[in-house]
Amino acid sequence: LINSRKLDHLKTCIEEDVEAGDAGFGSVRLPHKALPELDYSSIQTDTKLFKKKLNFPLIIESMTGGTGEAESINKALATVAHEYGLGMGVGSQRAGVEDGSLAHTYQVRDVAPDILLIANLGAVQLNHNYTHKECEKAIDMIQADALALHVNPLQEVIQPEGDTDFSSLVSRINSVRKRVSKPVIFKGVGEGITLDTASKLDVDGFDVGGMGGTSWSLVEGYREGGLAREVGMTFAGWGVPTVECVRQLRGLKKTLIASGGVRSGLDAVKAVALGADAVGVALPLLRVFDRGGVSGLRDYVGRFITEFKVAMFLTGSKDIRALKGLVE
Ligand SMILES: Cc1cc2nc3c(=O)[nH]c(=O)nc-3n(C[C@H](O)[C@H](O)[C@H](O)COP(=O)(O)O)c2cc1C
Repeated sequence: LINSRKLDHLKTCIEEDVEAGDAGFGSVRLPHKALPELDYSSIQTDTKLFKKKLNFPLIIESMTGGTGEAESINKALATVAHEYGLGMGVGSQRAGVEDGSLAHTYQVRDVAPDILLIANLGAVQLNHNYTHKECEKAIDMIQADALALHVNPLQEVIQPEGDTDFSSLVSRINSVRKRVSKPVIFKGVGEGITLDTASKLDVDGFDVGGMGGTSWSLVEGYREGGLAREVGMTFAGWGVPTVECVRQLRGLKKTLIASGGVRSGLDAVKAVALGADAVGVALPLLRVFDRGGVSGLRDYVGRFITEFKVAMFLTGSKDIRALKGLVE
């Protein structure tokens, strides 16, 4: 059941118009320097996240696992992450935790031995008998450097078979973090995270998953049809724009990943200038892979990095550190 749902999600995300809202990058203006006082060829984009070096501050966001198709997608994404020195998350590992024979569909260390790799589980599973043990199992399964616990209350209420008991999760997340061996990231999936929630959590980082990109309300609505689709449409633009999430969370001094509607290297520079440590992209990579395979992924990432460096050049920023705080 989990597997066929995951496959439907991939198909829906590729075929339907599942994006909604405005992440807010259009209203952020970077300060232009008529004289960058910088040699373009000397620009450095490397950074560190959870003690791992990235050549470029982009995380391929958590998307898939659990099926044969998922396995080839994960391997392709990891191949490109390895080539460009990016980070990567795998899709929710619940299917693999419950059925060990599916573990290989998430495993990518053979093609990406030392990338920053992020395990993934739904936080709501902590209300369904999951403890730090299942979390550790997800980490071990893929030899991850960190664990993301995602929250998708909107998606779960729209799914007829969804897990809708979101009570007591603050304390459960905080206690898992004390007992697992790797850093814990609290992750949104498209509705965003605000300061009031983030400040209750004793985690190591946040991946905002803000509004303005993939809408799980639309994905679930398209998949289910009928009433779910109507409710899904109503809540399509629900949530907090990615830019607003970054502004709210940057003061916490925790690792901060900006995701949700990041669609160019220019958006990415804006996110870092606002205070994010890295950005995450999901949907465009899935679509590019579907159309053009690994070489499509390479072209996409290459374009993204060029745009990022052009914006660094025009703002006179020689490295990632120089970008921080460039805009309010
Ligand atoms: C096909 C697909 C599957 C996803 N599956 C997961 C998942 O299993 N776990 C998770 O935390 N987020 C999942 N996400 C959410 C993404 O990781 C990301 O936070 C979100 O899509 C916003 O980024 P985007 O606008 O670039 O797509 C998925 C997204 C897509 C497009």
